[in-house]
Amino acid sequence: MTQAQSQAHGQATHHAHATLSDPTMLWVDNVSVSFDGFKALTDLTLLLDPGELRCIIGPNGAGKTTMMDVITGKTRADSGRVFMSGRTIDLTELSEAQIAELGIGRKFQRPTVFENLSVFQNLELALKTKKTAFHSLFARLSSEARDRIAAVLDTIGLPTRAHAPAGLLSHGQKQWLEIGMLLAQDPKILLVDEPVAGMTQREMERTGQLLVSLAGEHTVVVVEHDMDFVRDIAKRVTVLHEGRVLAEGSMEQVQNDPKVIEVYLGSEAGNLGGAGC
Ligand SMILES: Nc1ncnc2c1ncn2[C@@H]1O[C@H](COP(=O)(O)OP(=O)(O)O)[C@@H](O)[C@H]1O
Ligand SMILES: [Mg+2]
Repeated sequence: MTQAQSQAHGQATHHAHATLSDPTMLWVDNVSVSFDGFKALTDLTLLLDPGELRCIIGPNGAGKTTMMDVITGKTRADSGRVFMSGRTIDLTELSEAQIAELGIGRKFQRPTVFENLSVFQNLELALKTKKTAFHSLFARLSSEARDRIAAVLDTIGLPTRAHAPAGLLSHGQKQWLEIGMLLAQDPKILLVDEPVAGMTQREMERTGQLLVSLAGEHTVVVVEHDMDFVRDIAKRVTVLHEGRVLAEGSMEQVQNDPKVIEVYLGSEAGNLGGAGC
């Protein structure tokens, strides 16, 4: 959506958007999950504001991926709830497909683009997958669908690669295409698991810019191991450890938190680097 369109959209639907003043877009409320008696998440609580960019860090096995699995309905919580839009929708009562329909898009670590299709065709498929009235309207109005795809191509920085087979893209470009495929479905919340693994320095920088630019219009949750990357993009950071929230705050606050320093120094993930570590 262009800025002008988004402003027009905002004005036209001003009254319908009372939920924007709601304090939470996503509320993971006291969630526990265990696998064969092993507690992967213990009383995990996480609150996300509409439009915020949240980075989630923590050593291997901290429960980051499990948390995303619970939010998206892939894994069932043993106890606790996951609410969207205040407490109006309880995601733990919904199927994976229903949760996706509500506007929660997830990007897994490995890109899963269709290599034999062009970049454009990948985005077209993603656009058609969304089944709301709004998007089936787009499916008929192919010029509007094309406009939307063009806008997504601009956002992900691939307009000149539109007709290239996705299989010919670099690893980083494939990751951006996959983010674009999520954007085509107009998600409210984007969950991104380790987006810069395997990327070049330049690709990491562009990915950071992309994710920062998506916040505001979307609520973005980034799980990432790479501390330099997190330090570059971080606003609010949540540190998970052994299935619990160990610390939360600005990057500076969490990297100077003695509990966090202890966990990182004692783990194979290495230390957090920067001042105070
Ligand atoms: N499906 C599963 N079955 C058994 N154990 C699992 C499963 N998924 C995750 N775990 C365990 O739960 C813990 C948290 O894993 P995970 O959420 O993948 O951590 P992270 O993403 O932070 O590295 C780990 O000890 C992992 O081995
Ligand atoms: Mg993980």
